[in-house]
Amino acid sequence: MTDIRLLSAADARDMLPDLCDVLADCVNSGASVGFMQPYGPADAMPYWQGVADSVESGATLLLVAVIESWVVGTVQVGTAQMPNQPHRGDLKKLLVHRSARGKGLARLLMEAAEREAARIGKTLLVLDTATGSDAEAIYPRLGWQRVGVVPDYALWPEGGFCDTTIFYKRIAA
Ligand SMILES: CC(C)(COP(=O)(O)OP(=O)(O)OC[C@H]1O[C@@H](n2cnc3c(N)ncnc32)[C@H](O)[C@@H]1OP(=O)(O)O)[C@@H](O)C(=O)NCCC(=O)NCCS
Repeated sequence: MTDIRLLSAADARDMLPDLCDVLADCVNSGASVGFMQPYGPADAMPYWQGVADSVESGATLLLVAVIESWVVGTVQVGTAQMPNQPHRGDLKKLLVHRSARGKGLARLLMEAAEREAARIGKTLLVLDTATGSDAEAIYPRLGWQRVGVVPDYALWPEGGFCDTTIFYKRIAA
């Protein structure tokens, strides 16, 4: 059975090894999510420690999908915005381990992230994703509106420029 959980900073620190495995698996399967190959679980540790700190400060909502005590997916909402954008959140790092894809976990994580963002008063979410990626195809299915493409925004993990598509979604507060 899949359990979708909103983590405290302490929970996140307990789950660091699994979170590192999920991120490394995604980077090594070609996802443009901030990091370059080669990228092992140990490389991901400083990133996730920073995320746990950000959860502690209240700047990030961190959700995970757990199957049989194993974290197989995750997503974040960045909540700390400038004073003129208190209603906006940044949807970040939707990641599902290859072994758990195609079972609806991304949909469950995104629905839970929206609920949690709405619970703290957010009414607008924004994200960017690599143009042409599997993820780009998913967001419209989840009700997100495509804004447009920024060319050469980032690099693919194996190298080479990668365009980015911006999406937004209005959510009920
Ligand atoms: C993108 C990703 C999170 C999808 O995870 P997943 O758990 O396999 O997705 P789901 O099974 O929940 O699928 C969600 C929806 O997208 C559809 N979908 C899944 N993979 C798809 C694909 N490759 N192409 C088109 N649609 C797809 C599903 O049919 C489903 O639609 P439905 O609920 O209307 O039937 C996963 O492939 C991943 O982690 N990729 C690498 C990391 C990445 O690129 N993250 C995005 C960062 S912005």
